[in-house]
Amino acid sequence: MDKDILPKYTLFDERVARRPKAPSLRRILKLSLLAGLVWALWTSHSSKSTPRTILSSDRLRADYATCAKLRHKPQDPSGPRERNARYLDGHKPYLIRNASVWTGEPNAHHGVSDGERREQPAYSWIHADVLLHHGLIKRVEADIAAADLPDDYVVYQAHGRPLTSGIVDMHSHVGVSSMFEGSSDDNELSNDITPFVRSIDGFNPLEEHIQIVKSGGVTTSLILPGSGNNMGGEAYVVKHAVGKADGRSEISAEDMLADPEKLLRYMKMACGENAKRVYGKVGRDFGPFSRLGEAWYFRHAFEQASALVAAQDDWCNAADRLGAHKMSGYLPQDLKWESLGALLRGQVLLNTHCYTIPDLESFVGYTNEFNFSVRAFHHAHMTYLVPEILKRAYGDRPPASALFADQMYYKAESYVASEQAGKILWENGLTPVYVSDNPVLNAQHVVFEAAKAYKNGLPYHVALAGVTSASADILGLGERIGKVKAGFDADIVVWDSDPLSVGAAPVQIWIDGTPQYEHPVELKKALHGPIEHQSYLASIKEEVSERSEVIFSGITKILSSTHDATLSEHTHGNVIVKDGAISCLGECENELAAAQERGALVVTLENGHIAPSLTTFGSSLGLVEIAGESVTQDGSNGDENFSRAVDGLAFDAKELHAAFSHGVTKAITAPLYKFGGFYGVSAGFATGALHAQEKGAVWKDEVALHYALAKSTASPSLSSAIGALKAKLIQAINANETDSSTRPEQRYLKKVVQDKMALVIQTDSADQIASLLRLKAEVEAEIAASTTVDIVPHLRMIIQGGAESHLLAAELAKANVAVILSPLLASRGSWDQRRALTGAPLTNGTAIDVLHAAGVKVAIGTDEQLPTRDLYLSAGIAHANSNGKISETEALAFVSSNIYDILGLKKIHSDAILQEFTVFEGNPLEIDGQIRAIADGRGKVSVRL
Ligand SMILES: *[C@@H]1O[C@H](CO)[C@@H](O)[C@H](O)[C@H]1NC(C)=O
Ligand SMILES: *[C@@H]1O[C@H](CO)[C@@H](O)[C@H](O)[C@H]1NC(C)=O
Ligand SMILES: *[C@@H]1O[C@H](CO)[C@@H](O)[C@H](O)[C@H]1NC(C)=O
Ligand SMILES: *[C@@H]1O[C@H](CO)[C@@H](O)[C@H](O)[C@H]1NC(C)=O
Ligand SMILES: *[C@@H]1O[C@H](CO)[C@@H](O)[C@H](O)[C@H]1NC(C)=O
Repeated sequence: MDKDILPKYTLFDERVARRPKAPSLRRILKLSLLAGLVWALWTSHSSKSTPRTILSSDRLRADYATCAKLRHKPQDPSGPRERNARYLDGHKPYLIRNASVWTGEPNAHHGVSDGERREQPAYSWIHADVLLHHGLIKRVEADIAAADLPDDYVVYQAHGRPLTSGIVDMHSHVGVSSMFEGSSDDNELSNDITPFVRSIDGFNPLEEHIQIVKSGGVTTSLILPGSGNNMGGEAYVVKHAVGKADGRSEISAEDMLADPEKLLRYMKMACGENAKRVYGKVGRDFGPFSRLGEAWYFRHAFEQASALVAAQDDWCNAADRLGAHKMSGYLPQDLKWESLGALLRGQVLLNTHCYTIPDLESFVGYTNEFNFSVRAFHHAHMTYLVPEILKRAYGDRPPASALFADQMYYKAESYVASEQAGKILWENGLTPVYVSDNPVLNAQHVVFEAAKAYKNGLPYHVALAGVTSASADILGLGERIGKVKAGFDADIVVWDSDPLSVGAAPVQIWIDGTPQYEHPVELKKALHGPIEHQSYLASIKEEVSERSEVIFSGITKILSSTHDATLSEHTHGNVIVKDGAISCLGECENELAAAQERGALVVTLENGHIAPSLTTFGSSLGLVEIAGESVTQDGSNGDENFSRAVDGLAFDAKELHAAFSHGVTKAITAPLYKFGGFYGVSAGFATGALHAQEKGAVWKDEVALHYALAKSTASPSLSSAIGALKAKLIQAINANETDSSTRPEQRYLKKVVQDKMALVIQTDSADQIASLLRLKAEVEAEIAASTTVDIVPHLRMIIQGGAESHLLAAELAKANVAVILSPLLASRGSWDQRRALTGAPLTNGTAIDVLHAAGVKVAIGTDEQLPTRDLYLSAGIAHANSNGKISETEALAFVSSNIYDILGLKKIHSDAILQEFTVFEGNPLEIDGQIRAIADGRGKVSVRL
């Protein structure tokens, strides 16, 4: 639900608890009274000469034993094991036959140095059987003979499908965050410095999202406290097997620990914007208010822990010399600084949320001032710019960077970012890994982050390692999880397609050797084999040149339902662009000669594709640039502030450039509503324009009338919001639009009841959709009753959001109400989408499959800016996961022409492919499609050279 209240990206990746109130006078009095009392007691005590206390020799001995623990340096657990400590007796051995296995290691071990491996690693899929027993992977070999197998084993036929280790997500809040306030326990914000709290104390094994996350192949997650304060607390690595249904003996967080022997500890810290936003307010006597304050809070805390460590070391060293029984006091201990002390002792693996250069530089400074190491910087958007700073960090390995593939720009500290960050880090000898920060991204799809990193030029094996072996290694569990190798934990995923392909979903998952699904839904997908290496991914073209005339050769496919010319017969399919529009498709001998004579640019492609350029519906592009910075935004309307988006559009900024460069040339954006969703009239504009007065910049001033069903000041209940909308529509039937006293909103409502404008209502909830269908019927009946003309009244109602719309697919089709799914895949992260379909292996298809099958008019929109960069891939998922029911061109129509049909803007878009198109190397719906040219119908083609 929070997602609906803008800015949609929460300013810090966790919920803010209520700010502490200023202390009341009574409380201050009470506190000072207490302090006085303590002071009086202490002075009376210390003024007397203290007699030599008698110390307990048992306790001194115990303290001395503690010294050994304090001095213990944990090693990443390794070495052969007979059984996994998590193994429960009675579980049968599994033999997975005939899999295509990604072991996570180069195939040829001998004679290959690490350096060479980075350059030219011999990673590939191998054909093998995998034997799981006692919670471990026992053997990974081709055609394991039945004679060598343990009794009682179960065979699973993989039928040649890809098999990898379970996905490891090293930044998740699943189990501690929740759609309910009452069970959101991700961040102890009572103080900026809380290294002493533990995420496991809020971890709810029955949180439903744990199962959804697992359904994406995620078997292991690091559960971090939030990043609202500078030191968030201790973190835990859990496996996603819960209770008897998942093969465990009990429902408990303890039972889910990936490292049940507790050899390793983890901690979370966070620099940058969040803490200063949560705490700092002028006039408060506590901060941090700025990064300056944050640095002080950090250093002060490290100093406390460092002093404790020194006092303990002094005690232990003296006890070594004198014998513990001779000590004149006990070992100094302080629970408050125990965990931070353990960090300084090298016993805790630290993960720090840190985006910007000043933050990274300061934090690396603390590591060298207090001698501790950082395992990874998270949200490390700017690390790609400063590899040297990372390499200066204390410790024997530079911190890794835990990244999103393309979620960026949402706050000031993510406004400098690159989709090629992972590639650049890798080239600098640093390690990129990919994480979800669930619920910020739905961790079910964290493997898709790695896929997009691959799309952006990271080598395949590095991208996949970024959610498996590299993450495991950073967690200190690199000898236990993240690879398919004898001796490793038996966490295995068999996929329906290459895990880095678009729409990849598990068909079965094992955790510690136990299969997690009795009846998994398996999508019908042809066995394509692994993704083939595309040489063009290694050198992604960045330089952009604006041309009006271009020759593209090597086009094999036109993905358009109106120009279904498959050029695959022509091995050198040509596309001639003149005046920014396609003038010829095919061999085009004459046109080609003429263009060449005029000196047109020639772009030769491998497996070139032409696709329609896309339109984003439902983002705030043009009205919101940085979600966390109100100066970059139009603002949001209250109940009495009706407006038109066209009056607030702002052009030429990063989000718009990014949308354009991903082939999204048009946007339809509505004004925001303060209480969530939209309120006002949307505008249609070109994302590539410099300003609104440019030709074609605003191609439709007024697209549709938008409302959200939200609890607001004027409508404090959802029922009153629906009632108010209905009353407005009925009033509009008789409104006089030429009368100057008619308010603007009523004029647009009048257009709606006259079927001259679409009415878009944002909701995910099936119950609200049902109410809206009733509202539609009632308003249409009123229209019919109010007129003597024999027309069929029609309200062009569109549901935006629609996470639960599949529950009413038949009713929506019957009522001719269209749905713009925003976004394509819902996570069930809020109450209103708790019945969303999350897809295979849990559900048979997602909303789009059900709506499409029922004949509902459907399109794919977005709910934030990020998905605008992935719209071709969204279409790709809809196609790949449709069991063959949604064709490529139909899927592309979901993000282009269908939007216009649904809104009643058909004429604007007819035959657009000739003017508005993109040129791809590879298929735009597949992970390795690379955009090479974009035409937005305004006379120019922007070509990447
Ligand atoms: C493995 O599965 C594939 C696909 O079903 C099949 O073509 C192949 O013959 C199988 N190989 C073996 C050794 O069973
Ligand atoms: C950090 O290590 C250096 C070198 O070993 C040492 O000189 C310094 O005192 C240490 N600092 C702290 C705070 O322990
Ligand atoms: C905006 O709405 C608020 C209350 O929601 C109202 O007080 C204010 O006058 C409105 N402003 C305009 C310009 O309509
Ligand atoms: C609508 O308002 C205009 C301007 O006030 C007036 O001339 C016209 O008669 C009105 N029409 C109706 C049907 O009331
Ligand atoms: C999934 O739904 C489709 C229809 O949309 C149906 O044909 C198919 O049998 C279903 N599969 C399962 C496993 O229920």
